[in-house]
Amino acid sequence: MGRFGAALLGALLLVLAGAVRAEAPLPRIADGSARPMLLVDGKPFVALAVQANNSSGYPAALGQVWPAAKAVHANTVMLPLGWEQVEPTEGQLDFADVDAMLAGARAHDLRLVLLWYGTWKNTSASYTPAWVKQDGKRFPRMRHPDGRAHGSLSPHGAETLKADARAFAALMRHLREADPQHTVIMVQVENEAGSWGLARDHTPEAEALFEGLVPSELARALGIPRQSWEASFGPRAEQFFMSWHVARYIDQVARAGQAELALPMIANAALGNAFTDEGGDIGPSGGPNWNALPVWRVAAPSLAAIGPDIYTRDAAAVVRYLDRYAEGRAPLIVPEIGNAAEYARFAFPAFGRGALLYSPFGIDATGYVNYPLGAKMLDKPTLEAFAAPYRLLGSAMSAWPQIAAEKPIWGTARGNDGADQSTTMGRWRLTTAYGRWAFGEDEWTWIARDPHPLADVPTGGLVAAQLDADTFLVGGQNVRLRLALATPAKGESAQVIAAEEGTFEGGQWVMRRRWNGDQIDYGFSFGTEPVWLKITMGSFR
Ligand code: DGJ
Repeated sequence: MGRFGAALLGALLLVLAGAVRAEAPLPRIADGSARPMLLVDGKPFVALAVQANNSSGYPAALGQVWPAAKAVHANTVMLPLGWEQVEPTEGQLDFADVDAMLAGARAHDLRLVLLWYGTWKNTSASYTPAWVKQDGKRFPRMRHPDGRAHGSLSPHGAETLKADARAFAALMRHLREADPQHTVIMVQVENEAGSWGLARDHTPEAEALFEGLVPSELARALGIPRQSWEASFGPRAEQFFMSWHVARYIDQVARAGQAELALPMIANAALGNAFTDEGGDIGPSGGPNWNALPVWRVAAPSLAAIGPDIYTRDAAAVVRYLDRYAEGRAPLIVPEIGNAAEYARFAFPAFGRGALLYSPFGIDATGYVNYPLGAKMLDKPTLEAFAAPYRLLGSAMSAWPQIAAEKPIWGTARGNDGADQSTTMGRWRLTTAYGRWAFGEDEWTWIARDPHPLADVPTGGLVAAQLDADTFLVGGQNVRLRLALATPAKGESAQVIAAEEGTFEGGQWVMRRRWNGDQIDYGFSFGTEPVWLKITMGSFR
């Protein structure tokens, strides 16, 4: 090789090295010592997300999405992408809208979660291209027992699966080329899959499968004998049969995409009753309602996380859903929660259970509102309700995600009854109270008091991490926290050694001031602007 050739080779190697360097590590969900963590750019991250409205994933609407996301201090936007949008003509894929999403998100320093509205969008085929909608022979609908067509596409449609997976794989291939920096950190495969008003498909394929035995893989994983669906699952047989086939289908779509770009893939659930499945209130049959999670997790191992879409204003039910979806150290995500101000406080119990993503639904400036599910109006106070916890968590992005993956944590929000709440962490009892003045005790009668302005307002909550036996990191808003010895020894009293208000810079705690005197004599009162406190407790006798 001559001098010129060597120089050329050298230059080529440099360019290649640059290209390799420019490639950011793939976002992924990894194991933490206590619970899973989400890694973005190789670092622990939590997605303080918002989800745009259903028709907002177009270049013409994106300008109304970014400012709303910024207004609530989100770091991530979940954007819908319809199959009809990218493949209006079969085989001709067009990702111009995806490119606009990538450019807009980058310009606003936001990450994206794309929502693939394919075979199922709220169980319906509404986002499939016209050539799918209009060809019921090639892309069969589910059938009722009497042979009537149901609106949802059949999970047994081999051609539907092939076409959906092909389009989805093309999307992921496009991202592999167009998004080396991984602006897109996760992809949701389908949206609220399943079927309403029909427990399972009755196409001839489905009938034959339902007559047969449960798949051996499922029986093995659940530790049950391999027998018929009915013998295995009784009243839940049709639901779990549907769940198996819908989840299997989604797993294959996800896999086809991951073969192109292995981003974390997620699924979301339209929910049934939070407390019991006995009455059959299980959301759409076949979807990942909590009671079907054991089936879904076996059927769709390529999904990194499955999350609840929460639209109940009953705080006890919200917390129950969070517990159910985090059970067994599963990665917790909340892909949707109502956007009325009162839902904002549930960010605290979510992040206090190690949530990797939290996302109020319908945050954009298109003017659409989905009341009664969410807010009547997306006005400033509503946006600010979500902005407050996001500011708090966002200010600790260099510390909280790692702490949440490793330390004992707790998160709580005001219940519908406004009652005090408690938990025990090591030798400490943490108790929250809501709607109280910062100064004084409840039982004081010697001085007249007006009720606190937030006495009856559904706001307030906190996250707490036990950094070591006697040290807590607490971030809260509109809540009063008290720390007491859980079981004090005879004559032992608790004392505050230090309470520092501060923040994190580059993962390091930076104190702003100490709280003492009035600020702690009646507990630690967090006001409307959330802050972090590092509290060191001790005892004396
Ligand atoms: C849940 C769905 O997943 C969303 O796309 C949306 O339709 C809401 N319901 C209702 O606004």
